[in-house]
Amino acid sequence: MQLQYGLLGGGNGAFIGDVHRRGIAFTGLAGLCAGCFSRNMEQNLQTAKLWNIADESRVYADYRSMAETEALREDGIDFVVIATPNYLHYEMAKAFLEKGIHVCCDKPLALTVEEATELEQLAKEKKLCFGVTYSYGGYAMIRQARTMVETGEIGQIVHVAIEYPQDWLLLGLAEGKKMWRLDTSLGAISLATADIGTHLEYLITAATGLEVTEVLARFDYIPAEMQLETNSNILLKLSNGASGALWSSVVAIGHDSDVRIRIYGSKGSLEWFHGTPGLLKVCRFKEPAAYYAMNRPYNSEKSLEISHLPAGHPEGYFEAFANIYEGFCRDIIAHNNGLATGGLYYPTVSDGVRGVRFIHACVKSNANGNTWTAL
Ligand SMILES: NC(=O)c1ccc[n+]([C@@H]2O[C@H](COP(=O)([O-])OP(=O)(O)OC[C@H]3O[C@@H](n4cnc5c(N)ncnc54)[C@H](O)[C@@H]3O)[C@@H](O)[C@H]2O)c1
Repeated sequence: MQLQYGLLGGGNGAFIGDVHRRGIAFTGLAGLCAGCFSRNMEQNLQTAKLWNIADESRVYADYRSMAETEALREDGIDFVVIATPNYLHYEMAKAFLEKGIHVCCDKPLALTVEEATELEQLAKEKKLCFGVTYSYGGYAMIRQARTMVETGEIGQIVHVAIEYPQDWLLLGLAEGKKMWRLDTSLGAISLATADIGTHLEYLITAATGLEVTEVLARFDYIPAEMQLETNSNILLKLSNGASGALWSSVVAIGHDSDVRIRIYGSKGSLEWFHGTPGLLKVCRFKEPAAYYAMNRPYNSEKSLEISHLPAGHPEGYFEAFANIYEGFCRDIIAHNNGLATGGLYYPTVSDGVRGVRFIHACVKSNANGNTWTAL
């Protein structure tokens, strides 16, 4: 392996840490050598055994001692992955950046815009790579959509409709689960928008190159006792003047991770659905609808370079993470060789900062009686 990394979170049967680990393994560029997978050292050692970390001295009880020790080791980690609850992202990322270690953090990057911009500044000062795992931008057919928008295949973009309905909150409440995402004492100011709406804000940019510039948000609190919004409808202004509509919900019964984006242009439209990620629906005005399939030669270079299996063999969530990590790891390798870039696009700390601005603008818009609010 060319690179070594450490993982924060992922223990105790956590969801996303193991997805990062498997995604990174797909790249073949980095190996897991260290970690602090939870707050419980005994469980951390068990997790390390499960994940074949041979050297127990590189399993840590807390992330600060991990940052310090790994920075001092000659064979210390090249980068750290942060897959812990949101309120820990800022302090963890800062601790590793300060020690000169590259960072890849899950979304949202931080709780406040100030924290997020501080991380961006610190990474810049230290000349370190900083990725943010907006997973849905890692799909090959999203890169195909981006190429088709950029080459003018569907004309001028006039509207984007995007949604992410789920029902995990209702399932969690029914099971009486304790959920850190609902805990306002840990700094949470938003639920549906911060947890999944933020994916959509980035996905618009990944698929079209446009950015959200203003929002008008209306939050719903379902069930009524919820302190944070669980259903969020947001009107958007995009950087080319087009409009958009963004819906995220964690109380949409029957929906899993049903991300869908529809991009409308003056000459045609594009549609991508997470349930069929290898297909992109392409409609040209007055022509029959077509479905572009992943890894067929008619796709763009940018889409093909992150397609791995022969057409027809499904690629999914793990590969989307792998594609983000491929770009991130290639950048670190380029950095180690004195080069500016590894040449593969992936979401960075600047995208993470914009994501935090988006969440705060939505909260402000809703609180001010659904008024247009700039990012
Ligand atoms: N990119 C995506 O598609 C995606 C999907 C799900 C979650 N996420 C993000 O990933 C993060 C984690 O979400 P999750 O669903 O895996 O949560 P989770 O509650 O399932 O897991 C959190 C993990 O962090 C560990 N942890 C808590 N405090 C720690 C500490 N001080 N030191 C080390 N480990 C600690 C917990 O033990 C657990 O293993 C969140 O920021 C969430 O927004 C992203």
